[in-house]
Amino acid sequence: MKAFLKNNQSKSDFDFHTQFPGLRRDVAYLDNAATTQMHQSAIDAMHAYIAGGRSNVGRGLYPMAEETMRRYDAGRSTVANFAGVDAGRCIFTKSVTEGLNAIAFGLRERLQPGDEILVSAFEHHANLLSWRRIAKERGAMVKTMPMTPSFTLDLDRAKAMMSDRTKIVAVTMMSNVLGTVLPIPDLADAAHCVGALIVVDAAQAAAHLPIDVVDLGADALVFGSHKCYGPAGIAATILSLDLIDSMEPMIVGGGMVDRVTADGATWRQGIEKFEGGSPNVEGAIGFAAALDSIAFPNQGLRSRLVTDLKSISGVTVFDPPGAVGIVSFTVDGMHPHDVADMLGQRGVCVRAGNHCAAPLVEKLSSTGTLRASLAMYNDERDIEALVSNLKEIVKKAKA
Ligand code: ALA
Repeated sequence: MKAFLKNNQSKSDFDFHTQFPGLRRDVAYLDNAATTQMHQSAIDAMHAYIAGGRSNVGRGLYPMAEETMRRYDAGRSTVANFAGVDAGRCIFTKSVTEGLNAIAFGLRERLQPGDEILVSAFEHHANLLSWRRIAKERGAMVKTMPMTPSFTLDLDRAKAMMSDRTKIVAVTMMSNVLGTVLPIPDLADAAHCVGALIVVDAAQAAAHLPIDVVDLGADALVFGSHKCYGPAGIAATILSLDLIDSMEPMIVGGGMVDRVTADGATWRQGIEKFEGGSPNVEGAIGFAAALDSIAFPNQGLRSRLVTDLKSISGVTVFDPPGAVGIVSFTVDGMHPHDVADMLGQRGVCVRAGNHCAAPLVEKLSSTGTLRASLAMYNDERDIEALVSNLKEIVKKAKA
């Protein structure tokens, strides 16, 4: 194994390694779109809560349970405020995938045969399969808003697809494959003009772009903790007050019910209706602490990465204008899995394959792509590690 050692550290490197104890010095970690290293503040906040004595929420009447409730509520407020709304619009789910499924489930009664759901060419499977399933159940259709030859959304054609048949526009804010940023406010205006709702998958965007649900014009928006330096197993689903009132909950059980009779039940009001079961209290506390410490990655690093990758003969880089944080590329004559494996052996972590976005990746390459994705703690040396090792791998393969 050829380890990548960071041996010329400066004060700022030291700070990052202090802030992210999982950030290994022998590794260039460039798989942040899959998951980020956890911020020390999230670890500390969860440790303080767990080690101080934990309890369930919404059920206990003793002081320890009241303290837990206070911490959980404070966590929810921080997460909601990060997205520009107050706590009464923020539901915790276990993942972005679960949040998108809950929205699709909750909106299914609104769909009639012949109705249309528009997704974009950039969707992760989570924001595609959830809609395909309810469309099939209700006799509705899922249509795809296309991509331009430069890998951005074709906004004119997207707008032209919207009509009074369009009921839902479900779209990612940032591609997990290409880093393309989608024009959410324009799509929201166009969707609202035809009376449709817009649902935004902000799983990738939350760590790279400001998220303000009101400014974006989103009726629903989902983002998760583990791509934002917090723990896995918790995500925020932000809904409009109208959707909170009108949507059916996907999960039923304890904690979300108002009255249970011999043969029926009524649900609680507000967000409680959507949080059946014991919640992930430590997750909420860690998620909030991570968001309090978040910073966006250095955009100059992406440009440097693109330039350096393009300089390697046989490497094709997909570089949409305005993209942030993520770069996909291929190597002529080499399977992306093989290259990722060789890079991994050399201490460089990237993802390879279809990135759970098969319809998009099939348009780029028949075998998938390699993907490097940046976080707030990456620096020039991570780029240098990827590029120099890739050069050697390509050279060896040609020899
Ligand atoms: N959705 C994550 C990714 O793109 C797992 O890698």
